[in-house]
Amino acid sequence: MCGIVGYVGPRKVVPVIVEGLRRLEYRGYDSAGIAVGSPESALLEVCRAPGKLQNLEAVLKDHPLDGTYGIGHTRWATHGRPTEENAHPHRDCTGRIVVVHNGIVENYLELKRELTALGHKFVTETDTEIIAHLIEQIQKDSEDAGAPLKLEGAVQRAVKLLTGAFALGVLSAAEPDKIVAARSGPPVVVGVGEGESFIASDVPGILHYTRNMVFLADGDMAILTRQGVTFTDFDGNPVKRELTRIHWDPIQAEKGGYKHFMLKEIWEQPRAIRDTTLGRISLDSGKVFLGEMDLGDEELARAASINIAACGTSWHAALAGKYMIERLARLPVDVDYASEYRYRNPIPDPAALGLLITQSGETADTLAAQREMKAMGSKTIAICNVVGAMVAREAHGVIYTHAGPEIGVASTKAFSSQLTALFLLALKLGQLRGHLDKAQSVALMEELIKVPAKIEEILRSASDQCEKLAVNFSNARDFLYLGRGVHFPIALEGALKLKEISYIHAEGYPAGEMKHGPNALIDETLPVVVLVTRDETDPASKLRYEKTLSNIQEVTARSGRVIAIATEGDSTIGSLVEQTIFIPPAPELLAPILEVVPLQLLAYYIAVRRGADVDQPRNLAKSVTVE
Ligand code: G6P
Repeated sequence: MCGIVGYVGPRKVVPVIVEGLRRLEYRGYDSAGIAVGSPESALLEVCRAPGKLQNLEAVLKDHPLDGTYGIGHTRWATHGRPTEENAHPHRDCTGRIVVVHNGIVENYLELKRELTALGHKFVTETDTEIIAHLIEQIQKDSEDAGAPLKLEGAVQRAVKLLTGAFALGVLSAAEPDKIVAARSGPPVVVGVGEGESFIASDVPGILHYTRNMVFLADGDMAILTRQGVTFTDFDGNPVKRELTRIHWDPIQAEKGGYKHFMLKEIWEQPRAIRDTTLGRISLDSGKVFLGEMDLGDEELARAASINIAACGTSWHAALAGKYMIERLARLPVDVDYASEYRYRNPIPDPAALGLLITQSGETADTLAAQREMKAMGSKTIAICNVVGAMVAREAHGVIYTHAGPEIGVASTKAFSSQLTALFLLALKLGQLRGHLDKAQSVALMEELIKVPAKIEEILRSASDQCEKLAVNFSNARDFLYLGRGVHFPIALEGALKLKEISYIHAEGYPAGEMKHGPNALIDETLPVVVLVTRDETDPASKLRYEKTLSNIQEVTARSGRVIAIATEGDSTIGSLVEQTIFIPPAPELLAPILEVVPLQLLAYYIAVRRGADVDQPRNLAKSVTVE
C-alpha cells in the first residue's frame, strides 16, 4: 500500500525515482507523483498524475524535471479520491516543503482545524497535506521564537502531534540535498551508497542501486544527505542501526520472460520450497533446526497451545498449519483473522505461544495482533518472508520463508513456502513433545524433500490443461471450491486466488457443509472445484476421500460441473466428474502444497482470458499497512 522512493546524489533524480516506483508497483496504487529540488532553486517542483505510472511519465515528458534530490510516491487512496490534487507529494503554503506519506493520520481533521485557524490554506482532501503545513507552522513558530529549527527538528516536533500510522519522506527547498524520513508503522528502508542515499518503502525500490540497507524501526528518523545517513529517535537522540546486506538478486524482482510476475512466482515454487527447507532438516539425526529463535527447545515444548493470527492468504496457511500441528504434535491451535484477534477480547494465557504468519511482515493487523499477544504475556514466533521486517524484529523467534521477493499481489510462492515452514514447525513440535520418533520424522522429511520435484511435475503436466479449462470456465459467474480437513484451507485459497485476480465471485467451503446451504446454489452453470486427493497409506485420508466422493455425487446429481483435483492412479474419479487434474501422491499433510498449484494456475489462466490486470488487481494492495 503506497510506495515511497527518495534519492539524493549525483544520478539523474527523476529516472531513479520513477524506476524505483515502478518496482514498487506491486504494493498497489491509484495515482503517483514526484517532487524534485536543487540547491539553485527556491522551490520544489512537483508533478503528479492519477492512474498508473505511465500517466505520470507522460506528464513528465511534457514538463521535464531535473534536480539533485527528490522524492516520489504511489498512492493507494484512503482519504479522498485518486485525483491529481490528492496524489502525493503534498505542499505547505509556500511550496517550499513537500511531504509523501504512507499510512493514516487519524487526528488530521483536528489538526486541519487548528492550522486553518492560523491561516493555512488546504487544497486537497487528504490527511497527508496537514503534515506539510504542520512542519511549516512549527518552523515559523521556531523562527519567531528566535530559535529556528532545521527540517529534522521540525519533523521531530510534527510527528509527535500525529496519531495513526506513518512512513514519511520530507524535503525542504531551504535545506537542499536533504531528505528526512520517519517511521511509525509502515516500513521505511534506507539505502546507503557511495556519495548517495536512498529511501524506499521496500527493498526492490532501490535494490538496483545499493545492497546496503537499514530498516528503520518504529520511532526512528533518518536524515539523508549525499554524505551519508544519520539515524535518530523522535527526540533527536542518535540511534545506532545495523546495516543489512541484501542478497536478493535484483533479477528475482523482475519478470524474467514470464508474461506476469504471478506466473513466474507460481513456477518458482519448487525453488522457494527447497530454499525454505534447506539446512533445516537432518536425515541423519531426524532433527529439525529452526535457526533464528530466542526460544529454547524446552520453552517450545512447554507451550500449552498456539494462537495463530494472520490475514488473507497467510490466514489460509495458518488454517492448514492448525491441522499439521494438531496432528503431528497434538498441541491445540487456535487460528484468528488478525483483524479480529484484538477485538474478540482474547483470554490471556502466557503459556500459549503466539504465531504470526505474514509474507510482508508489515501487515498492520498482524502487527497489532502480535502486540496484543505480547501484552498478554505470550512469546511470539513469526513466519515471514521479508528479512528484517517489523514482525520479525518484534518476535522471539522467526522462521523465514525463503521465497524471495513476491511481487504479484496475489500470493503464490509465499503461501507454499509458509505451508513448508509450518510443516517444519509441526515436525519440530511433534519431536519435542514426544509424538514423533526418529524413524517417523525421517520418513516425513523424506516426503517433504520430494515435494519440489512433484510441483515441477504438476507445472509441466497441468499448465496446458488449466489454460484449456480456462476457455470453458472463464465466463462463469460464480465458482465453488470444496475440501475436507487440511484440504479445506486450500479450497479457501483456490477461491481467494480466483476472486482476487479474475473478479469472479468464488467461495471455499468444507465439503461436508454443502448440505447446510451451498447445495441451493448448484445448477448446470456452477463450476465446483473439489479437492479429492488420497493417501492410500493413511486410513484417515481414505475415509476423507470417500466422504468427499459422496459430496461430489451430491453436486453432479444436481447438474453441477465438477473439476476434481485428484491423485494420479485414481481410476474411480474420472467417471464421476467433468474434468480431473491429477497430481502426484503425497502424505495427507503435504498434499496441500501440491494441490494449491493447479488452483493457482486455473485462477491465473481464467484471469488472463478475462483480460484482467493479474499482477495488480483492482482495489487490492500487496502490503496492507493500515488497519
Ligand atoms: C494482502 C495481499 C494478500 C496477503 C495479505 C496478507 O491482502 O494482497 O496477498 O495474503 O495482504 O499479507 P501478509 O504480507 O501479511 O502475508
